[in-house]
Amino acid sequence: MSVGKPMLEVLDGKALSIPPVWMMRQAGRYLPEYRALRETAGSFLNLCFNPQMAADVTLQPIRRFHFDAAILFSDILVIPHALGQTVTFAAGEGPQLAPLADEAAIDALPRYADQNILAPIYETVRQAKAELDPNVALLGFCGAPWTVATYMIAGHGTPDQAPARLFAYAHPKAFGKLVDRLIENSVAYLAKQFEAGVDAVQLFDTWAGVLPPDEFKRWCIEPAEKIVQALRAKVPNARVIGFPRGAGASLGSYVERVPVNAVSIDWMADRRLIRDTIQGKVAVQGNLDPLVLLAGGEALDRAVDGVLSDFGGGRFIFNLGHGILPQTPVAHVERMLARVRGQ
Ligand code: CP3
Repeated sequence: MSVGKPMLEVLDGKALSIPPVWMMRQAGRYLPEYRALRETAGSFLNLCFNPQMAADVTLQPIRRFHFDAAILFSDILVIPHALGQTVTFAAGEGPQLAPLADEAAIDALPRYADQNILAPIYETVRQAKAELDPNVALLGFCGAPWTVATYMIAGHGTPDQAPARLFAYAHPKAFGKLVDRLIENSVAYLAKQFEAGVDAVQLFDTWAGVLPPDEFKRWCIEPAEKIVQALRAKVPNARVIGFPRGAGASLGSYVERVPVNAVSIDWMADRRLIRDTIQGKVAVQGNLDPLVLLAGGEALDRAVDGVLSDFGGGRFIFNLGHGILPQTPVAHVERMLARVRGQ
């Protein structure tokens, strides 16, 4: 039900004079209460798989800022982990996975992710939902197949995900099998998040922007279309936000083909073009530059005003163009929120 939840009203088709607002990575290291809890949690994956702690972290930014949406605290790499790949998060270095070297390594993956491993995440959803203010939406998420596959192939993040691009050109059939496996598991994973109580989900395709247009269609658009269609066959009317970061001129084709309720756009996106060609079809979410939030002051005020004046008249969810940076002062988030909410 969308009653009383501004975030869901916008996803369901309304334009609100004060847009709902939340931030990607809103539960994270810029918050002192996150850093304190993180120290007691042991490894990052321990935190993701401890429902009581993960639900608490999910709610931390809501308690502090009263955002219009809470996002499940977890990570996109829990799916490779539940498919048996070794995943670790070394402090300050980002994720490390045992890379999939060839077609044989892809064939050796189990067809289905281990649901016993993922079960605590659904429990996090139930616990967070039980404590959440009724006018705040609860969002689930997963990584889109292309982005998850880039980490599975390379074993870590790289500036332009060259290892996965190279692998997809050299072994398209094997890469297609990996993407198909991720599609099937993402659908099951998202459906279970809905069963546990999320109101909407976001599909994070963080690395979509490194793909040339034909590959973007094949590895970003087509898998996202299949995921949303198969998800809606299991969960009718499932609300989905797509985030094909860096889509640029391909954003129109994404929205044309993938039946999302909203599209999340990065800070490089051409807002007026998107307002004129896309905002009439789906809700738009974004796109404040995380660096201007870090800078703060009048530059932040001007940037917030720019986003609001371009998108404020239509279906719009205020957010960043990507995750908040860990060094961002909490006071800058408060300043941004006051301005968005006209306080
Ligand atoms: O607040 C939220 O948005 C919910 C939680 C969330 C996390 N990761 C927590 C996290 C979400 C939605 C993600 C998604 C995610 N994870 C993406 C897609 C979105 C994006 O930001 O691009 C990607 C590519 C990942 C993979 C990942 N996880 C990376 C590359 C890193 C290291 C980089 C970094 O910021 O440190 C992580 C670790 C991670 N995931 C942290 C958090 C809070 C920091 C680790 C820590 O606290 O020790």
